[in-house]
Amino acid sequence: MLEIKELHVQVDGKLILKGLNLSVAKGEIHAIMGPNGAGKSTLAKVLAGDPSYEVVSGEMLLDGQDLLELAPEERAHLGLFMSFQYPVEIPGISNFQFLYAAHNAKLKAQGKTAVAEEEFHRILDEKMAHIDVRSEFKTRNLNEGFSGGEKKRNEILQMAVLEPKLSILDETDSGLDIDAMRIVAKGVNCLMNSDNALILITHYQRLLDYIRPDFVHVLLDGKIVQSGGPELALELEAKGYDWLEK
Ligand SMILES: Nc1ncnc2c1ncn2[C@@H]1O[C@H](COP(=O)(O)OP(=O)(O)OP(=O)(O)O)[C@@H](O)[C@H]1O
Ligand SMILES: [Mg+2]
Repeated sequence: MLEIKELHVQVDGKLILKGLNLSVAKGEIHAIMGPNGAGKSTLAKVLAGDPSYEVVSGEMLLDGQDLLELAPEERAHLGLFMSFQYPVEIPGISNFQFLYAAHNAKLKAQGKTAVAEEEFHRILDEKMAHIDVRSEFKTRNLNEGFSGGEKKRNEILQMAVLEPKLSILDETDSGLDIDAMRIVAKGVNCLMNSDNALILITHYQRLLDYIRPDFVHVLLDGKIVQSGGPELALELEAKGYDWLEK
C-alpha cells in the first residue's frame, strides 16, 4: 500500500529525514517510536503534504501513485488520513459542518453524489454510536475547548467518517491519560480491517498493549534503524535508545 524509499527531507535548509525506508501493506499496523526530534512528526507531515517540508530525494508511493505529485487534498482523497500531535482548534466551525464537508468532498472526489444534511446526520449518528462518541460532539466547534482526550475521540470520529485507506496517528507524548489511551485504542481497533492500514507514532509502549502492532520501527536521527515485532517496544522501554546504532 505505502512504499517509502530513501526519503530525504529538509526543513529550513536542515536535513531531518536522511534516507528513510518503510513499506506498509494492507491490514498492517506499524508503530514508529524514537526519541524527541528524531523526525517522526516530520514523516507524518511530509506524507500529508505540508509545504514547509521539502523532499530532497526519495520516493513515497501510495498504491503505486506518486504522493509527491499530489496536493494535500488529493492525497486525502486517495485515502490518506492524518491526525497530528497538536490538533488545531477551529472556532466558528462546528464538528458537524466540518465532517459533513469532508464527507461530501470525499464523495465528490470519488465521482459520487453528495448526501443531504439530513442523511449525513443519520450517517454520523450511526458512526458516533459505533465508536462511543457523545452526541454533543456534533454541535461543538471543531476542537475548540476540547480536552486532550476529547480531541483524540474526535480524531477517531473523523477516521470513522472518512474511512481512510491509510491512517497516520501522531500521538501526543504528554497529557494522554489512561482513558484517552483506551479511547484511541478502542476506536482504532474498531475501524481497522484487512483493507486498511495504520501507522501509529507513539512514545508509549503501553498504547501498544491496546493496539497490537504487526511491526515496531525505531526512528533515530532521520532513519529507521531497527524494526521488529511488538517485543521491540518492550525492549526499548527497558533499554532506551542508546544501544541502537545510528
Ligand atoms: N517547521 C520546522 N521548522 C524548523 N525545524 C523543524 C520544523 N519541523 C521539524 N523541525 C526540526 O526537525 C527535527 C525533527 O522534528 P520532529 O517534530 O519530526 O521530531 P519528532 O520525532 O516528532 O519528536 P517528538 O518525539 O518530540 O514529537 C527537530 O530538530 C525539529 O526541531
Ligand atoms: Mg513529534
